[in-house]
Amino acid sequence: MTQIIIMSYQLLKGKKGIISGALDSNSIAWKVAEKCHEQGATIVLTNAPIAMRMGEIKNLASKTNSSIVPADATNVEDIEKLFKESQQILGGKIDFVLHSIGMSINIRKNIPYTELNYDYFMKGIDVSALSFHKLLAVAYKLDAINDYGSVVALTYAAAQRTYPFYTDMADIKAMLESIARSFGYHYGKRNKVRVNTVSQSPTKTTAGSGIKGFEEFYDYAQKISPLGNATAEDCANYCLTLFSDLTKMVTMQNLFHDGGYSTTGVSYEILNNK
Ligand SMILES: NC(=O)c1ccc[n+]([C@@H]2O[C@H](COP(=O)([O-])OP(=O)(O)OC[C@H]3O[C@@H](n4cnc5c(N)ncnc54)[C@H](O)[C@@H]3O)[C@@H](O)[C@H]2O)c1
Repeated sequence: MTQIIIMSYQLLKGKKGIISGALDSNSIAWKVAEKCHEQGATIVLTNAPIAMRMGEIKNLASKTNSSIVPADATNVEDIEKLFKESQQILGGKIDFVLHSIGMSINIRKNIPYTELNYDYFMKGIDVSALSFHKLLAVAYKLDAINDYGSVVALTYAAAQRTYPFYTDMADIKAMLESIARSFGYHYGKRNKVRVNTVSQSPTKTTAGSGIKGFEEFYDYAQKISPLGNATAEDCANYCLTLFSDLTKMVTMQNLFHDGGYSTTGVSYEILNNK
């Protein structure tokens, strides 16, 4: 396979960012953090206090020369502390933020869509969608993001089309994408801050692999997509472009990063069962 070497263009030189959701080296956010560092950004890493206990994030922090500020993304006070401390650590306003947070107890417990537990559903909404609004609202209130800054959240195509095994996360991702449009309007008007979602291919991470039938679906998507599934590393590269000034007029979009999957009806590999 041809290996594409992405050189260090210093695309993010001098930029300051906050990256959530790096749990372990498989996490999409982990790759984003590594690449932001390579491209000259300084970053603060954040995750839920419970995820900190696993300790892996410390390795990432030392590798990327960054600080860690724990924050539960459902807790507004924690998010306020995150933005205030990050500005102190980084020495000024923030240029980019990655929301890479997702969790569904209904999925974890294999509860079918027709029998969802509503307490779990509410928790999933809070963690995976409202947290994005909270992050944006705190940044907006504190005026913590520089003009033309960029905020990206990760999403999945089940927000547009039905994937029965994705259960409540499908509805939650639809909400997440809507928040990007709605907040993108207000933040764009006031500070030219851009807000987008990236709709990523199935990716072998803790969150991804927790979905029932994930392996089979991963193979199916691989066969449908003309370019194959996009990896976590590919996703990180795409996020970098959105954090850079090269995309300064892109906002309020849901951007598919899926090797062509979302616009392919059927492929020969599927038809011929290869
Ligand atoms: N893996 C896939 O197939 C795939 C595909 C499309 C989109 N996504 C999305 O990408 C994002 C990142 O997921 P990933 O696949 O890298 O998996 P991951 O499990 O590595 O990351 C999920 C992160 O969410 C964090 N989190 C959970 N609850 C939190 C809370 N209350 N406060 C703060 N952080 C919390 C976890 O600690 C973890 O770091 C998610 O939004 C996910 O839905 C994943």
